[in-house]
Amino acid sequence: MCDDCKKRDGARSPFAYTACMNWTPDSWRAFEALQQPTWPAMAELEGVEKKLNTLPPLVFAGETRDLRRRLAKVAAGEAFLLQAGDCAESFDSFTADQIRDKLRVILQMAVVLTYSSGVPAVKVGRIAGQFAKPRSKPTETVDGMELPSFLGHMVNDLPFSEGERRPNADRLLQAYHQSASTLNLLRAFTKGGFADLHRVQAWNQEFVGNSNSGQRYEKLAAEITRALRFMEAAGVSSNHPEIHEADFFTSHEALILQYEEALTRKDSLTGDWYDCSAHMVWIGERTRQLDGAHVEFFRGIKNPVGCKVGPTATAEDVVGLCEALDPEREAGRLTLITRMGHDKVAEGLPPILKAVKESGHQVVWACDPMHGNTYTADTGHKTRNFEHVVGEVAGFFAAHREAGTNPGGIHVELTGDNVTECVGGEAAVVETADLSKRYETMCDPRLNASQGIELAFRVAELL
Ligand code: PEP
Ligand code: CO
Repeated sequence: MCDDCKKRDGARSPFAYTACMNWTPDSWRAFEALQQPTWPAMAELEGVEKKLNTLPPLVFAGETRDLRRRLAKVAAGEAFLLQAGDCAESFDSFTADQIRDKLRVILQMAVVLTYSSGVPAVKVGRIAGQFAKPRSKPTETVDGMELPSFLGHMVNDLPFSEGERRPNADRLLQAYHQSASTLNLLRAFTKGGFADLHRVQAWNQEFVGNSNSGQRYEKLAAEITRALRFMEAAGVSSNHPEIHEADFFTSHEALILQYEEALTRKDSLTGDWYDCSAHMVWIGERTRQLDGAHVEFFRGIKNPVGCKVGPTATAEDVVGLCEALDPEREAGRLTLITRMGHDKVAEGLPPILKAVKESGHQVVWACDPMHGNTYTADTGHKTRNFEHVVGEVAGFFAAHREAGTNPGGIHVELTGDNVTECVGGEAAVVETADLSKRYETMCDPRLNASQGIELAFRVAELL
């Protein structure tokens, strides 16, 4: 902590630290970081940090600036943000097919949203870096044995044994390398023909095609194909990069700050610092303390950043976050991802919208209808009800209409696989009794591909 901060700390302003000008990639170390693993060997961790610091960046500063400009459009109501992907990526199920299928459902949802809203969808994956998880309890006890909770594959492993639950710094390197291969494949898929709109009909997977939403999607895709054919017949070339390629960005919760710091690089063009682990990073609901290490780290990086806002956040907390994270009041810099719960959104969201609107920050408002709606089913599975998910999005839209602010996007956990983790959805109904059939998540329950597409149609109706 610098001398200025120490002086200001005496005054106990909530922004005593965050207002300090002396930011460096490691200045977060003087603040309390919640939800961190207890690393058994600090020397090992330091060795890994040094190694990471020499490795190439995963994304470029210019790409993150491009995303920031697109998010500014979202803030202005001229685009819609679709942020989606795994709750936690896995080192074990890491295949080209899974990456392709996740990308494909996001592309399908984007097509549905764009077609209905008439504005572009900004596609951001929870992918290529989403390996660390905050947990409600730091330890877990089974049959009298207490071990560290599973914190994501970047830190430890899921099986309940001492060896697998022990944090292992080498996993940070493995997370980096898996992110690099994932990103490589995503770039190939999105720029190399797979995402060409002429193939919009081929994106439907077989198990989705049989569902209601899959059939609705097929109709819409056929209309797009006909429109492209018509344009070509009328002499208007559809030979634009926008038709042949998709823009796709990566994001994750930047929880493990040693990893993020090691990938933070100074942009040679502007002299600014960028966290080059992903295009966008966000702060989780459990680590958004104004005087905490995560806010300190985030305020100095120039990427577009997000912050989760849950039902316990006060309007004052959120305005404080805006001041700390968006001091230059740049449209698109800060995305506030609200996750109130379907039963709390009507009461909880309006005072926050009003306060932020009055503060003058041009934030992107996104709705995460997943994390406030988790419950344990009779079968013991952690699940979410599709109607609660839609209900929170509907409450989010209603609150924004009322406040005169922009409902800018959604943030969801999904997979391209035919899993049974969330109940409901008219298309491929998952009943509570089905949960055990294909419950594959390592952490939170995700929407399957047909539930994801159905959600896109339901959101499109609200738009
Ligand atoms: C998450 O997005 O996976 C998450 C843990 O969310 P939150 O921080 O909102 O609880
Ligand atoms: Co989650």
